[in-house]
Amino acid sequence: MAEKARIGVLISGRGSNMASLIAASHAADSPYEVVFVGSNVPEAAGLDLARREGIATWARSHKGMKRAEFDALMDAELRAAGVETIALAGYMRLLSPEFIERWQGRILNIHPSLLPLYKGLDTHARAIEAGDAKAGCSVHIVTPELDDGPVIAQAEVPILPGDTAADLAARVLIEEHRLYPEALARFVRERIAA
Ligand code: GRF
Repeated sequence: MAEKARIGVLISGRGSNMASLIAASHAADSPYEVVFVGSNVPEAAGLDLARREGIATWARSHKGMKRAEFDALMDAELRAAGVETIALAGYMRLLSPEFIERWQGRILNIHPSLLPLYKGLDTHARAIEAGDAKAGCSVHIVTPELDDGPVIAQAEVPILPGDTAADLAARVLIEEHRLYPEALARFVRERIAA
């Protein structure tokens, strides 16, 4: 098997999408491995799981730092770890244009809506409020505009009568955990083939 693509995952919280990316990477035919998990929240629960998996972690609070300054530190860590592609997984902080430029076309994000609908926060409540019949999640390439780059994969779920935002979030999250590893694997396979 050819060398696996080296993935860095950035998180700010629970890290359940990170966990699904790591779990899928254990398959013998996975085209990627997670070599680095970084966070702007040192208490992020997902960091413990990454450490238990023996993955290199880096965490530092962004508080009191300029965005570009923080991102430059993170960039140095990602490079030192030999990361080739970044997967944002609940990384709740805008990246600086300089950082996105340096990693152009090599950062993916998962967003819990059917983009281009509902960029930003509170996606599930907004979809219910709008009376939509379906919701879902999207994996896209990160560009400087929030939740705006080209969508490479999407999954839909129904919105059921009486759904709360939490009900819908749970239904969407199941799809996120399936979609993200699949989309990342396809993305790196296409890059390797290119
Ligand atoms: C997910 O819903 C993801 O789509 C969004 O933030 C949430 C992160 O959850 N960007 P987790 O930390 O992966 O569990």
